Amino acid sequence: MNEKGKASTQPAVHRTWRPMPTAERGEGIYLYDTDGKRYIDGAAGSSVVVTIGHGVQSVADAMYAQMKKVSFAAPHVFSNQPLQDLGRVVASKAPGSMKDNCRAWFTCTGTDAIDDAMRVARQYFVATGQRSKTLFISRWQGFHGNNLAVTGMHGHTGRRRMYMGMNINSPHIPPAYCYRCPFEMRLPDCRLKCARALETEIKQQGEENVAGFFAEPVVGAALGAVPAPDGYFQVIREICDKYNVLLIADEVMTAWGRTGHWFGIEAWGVTPDIIATAKGMTSGYTTLAATIAREEIWAAIEKTGVPFLAGHTMDLNPVSCAGALEVIRTVERQDLVSRSRQVGAYLLEKLNELRTFDIIGDVRGKGLMCGFELVRDKATKEPFPPASRVSLRFQDEAMRRGLVLFHCTGCVEGTAGDMMLVTPPLIITQEQVDEMIAILKETTGVMQHELLG
Ligand SMILES: Cc1ncc(COP(=O)(O)O)c(C=O)c1O
Repeated sequence: MNEKGKASTQPAVHRTWRPMPTAERGEGIYLYDTDGKRYIDGAAGSSVVVTIGHGVQSVADAMYAQMKKVSFAAPHVFSNQPLQDLGRVVASKAPGSMKDNCRAWFTCTGTDAIDDAMRVARQYFVATGQRSKTLFISRWQGFHGNNLAVTGMHGHTGRRRMYMGMNINSPHIPPAYCYRCPFEMRLPDCRLKCARALETEIKQQGEENVAGFFAEPVVGAALGAVPAPDGYFQVIREICDKYNVLLIADEVMTAWGRTGHWFGIEAWGVTPDIIATAKGMTSGYTTLAATIAREEIWAAIEKTGVPFLAGHTMDLNPVSCAGALEVIRTVERQDLVSRSRQVGAYLLEKLNELRTFDIIGDVRGKGLMCGFELVRDKATKEPFPPASRVSLRFQDEAMRRGLVLFHCTGCVEGTAGDMMLVTPPLIITQEQVDEMIAILKETTGVMQHELLG
């Protein structure tokens, strides 16, 4: 039964039980359903996937060409050429001192890349005789993926509570979230207390027990495009170095040009030890993810002779690697990283015009990863009651008007708070941003009337 009490007629299980249109084709920033209705893909697929736009022929050609050569080559006995080429390209784009000094492991989904980041870190510490290091610290209101192990580690309350008792409940520190500062302080007086909380947590847990710290440079689904404040990752890096804790950047959403850099963490001038990435790496043409670690980490594991103990049947897939290679080359050819920075600044400026509405509490973002927060009372920042499902209703209203957005909840203590992500493909033009903003203004007006009268 769906929410309206009718049995679903769709034969496959979808995530929500709500009836939805069937997407038939995509072209550029637009998607079309089977009734011929056109939508602007303001969510870039499902939250921040599509970079080079829909329907790009050269990606289809690259994948087809590889399929005709070989689609699957048993990864326990064969390497493949697209895999090796992609490994080189990814290393060449890696941030700071990781550039050309790292290796990538290619798996299937962002969650796998995060899970495998934990495996790399663990295996590295075992290889180097630091066996007690098993703990991973993350932040409340941070999301890192959806398998059972990762639900214990990430800090998205709504996506982890169902599984408590079934997973290992990792330690968490407060988020870097200036609009609702967990310490009720302001920059610069706070002296980045949110970053220094990591040191406290490491001391509490015992540095000999802590293996890694996970963070998204710009928090996506759990906060609605909140970048860490200036200086945050520099402090985090110093703390990780001091206690021999690996800094693991979750770049599943933020890499491949999305935030105006190849990798989001570059904005802080900091090099992590491990990066997990997915989504934009293939622009949604296929499923592929990567765990990228500094060369010395892989070298220490390799020296033991123990195989890397991750692995799924479809890892290292040649067709997916061929697709990702062509996507990255397209981002490069069209200079979409700079474009994301430029058009992203324009998008943020236009989104800021929404602040004139009473229900818009905050607008934020970096590059073409933007978002805003919906509040019942602007002065007190009071959120709408969760039962009102405001962000979902906002998403529906926008969709009715031909704009796809991604709705998020839980920025207030994990249970309340409504945010919208606005993350169009990186090829979007300023005129198309204007088209999107016009729909957003109309949608916000309708929602405000409904909610506040
Ligand atoms: C920051 C972040 N990390 C990890 C994941 C998990 O990626 P996937 O859905 O591909 O498993 C997501 C998914 O939305 C994400 O946003």
